[in-house]
Amino acid sequence: MSTSSAAAERAAEPSAELRRRADEARGFLPPEEGLALHRAACAVRAEVAGPLLEIGSYCGKSALYLGDAARRTGRVLFCVDHHRGSEENQLGWEWHEPDLVDPAVGLLDTLPHFRRTVQDAGLEDVVVAVVGESATVARWWTPPLALLFIDGGHGEDPAHHDYECWAPLVAPGGRLAIHDVFPDPADGGRPPYEIYGRALASGAFVELEGCGSLRVLQRLDAPLRPTSRPSVR
Ligand SMILES: C[S@@+](CC[C@H](N)C(=O)[O-])C[C@H]1O[C@@H](n2cnc3c(N)ncnc32)[C@H](O)[C@@H]1O
Repeated sequence: MSTSSAAAERAAEPSAELRRRADEARGFLPPEEGLALHRAACAVRAEVAGPLLEIGSYCGKSALYLGDAARRTGRVLFCVDHHRGSEENQLGWEWHEPDLVDPAVGLLDTLPHFRRTVQDAGLEDVVVAVVGESATVARWWTPPLALLFIDGGHGEDPAHHDYECWAPLVAPGGRLAIHDVFPDPADGGRPPYEIYGRALASGAFVELEGCGSLRVLQRLDAPLRPTSRPSVR
């Protein structure tokens, strides 16, 4: 492949078929934000080594966009999720989907749905499920990341843990994408907005793009200055 056709391949949008599959997948990422995520992952310079990694996969919607970007850029996507759902997915909460409960154990289990979504899209060779608690996986994770997408638990502890454990692993030149960032509290919960603020305040990230509630930042060649949670300042 020539240099110009390789660049065109990297810049291309997902196929209509992939977009249709992403639209049909269960989950919470609007199509325009999925495309922005795809662009962000494709735009990471090839010299920036490392895989893509998302925290929070649910049934695989965002994994389709990022998996397609991984394929186009010669990378791999790791998808970290315990597949037991976030707080808001549990019985009695707004985003509970009863058919996702495994009756044998009485707990949510989105892993079979995730696997099916990825398999149907032909992305199993570039999308690797890591089933576990985000903080536990982070404790043993060392390779730098070309892109980190934070879309796991949106409560205060999970969101701030995800930032604290994983953001330092983004490689210089790599991207940090955060979902459900709502500057106006009337639009949604605070923790994703707070960690976005911490990333900017750390001096190690600059903002590149916003689309809906998605924010895409780039890691500078600078260490993260320590920041604390707003509620404990
Ligand atoms: C908002 S959903 C992810 C949506 C997904 N990105 C999409 O495109 O539809 C959040 C996911 O994070 C997972 N999750 C929440 N807290 C977690 C934690 N501490 N460790 C691992 N996964 C977690 C939940 O199981 C859930 O599937």
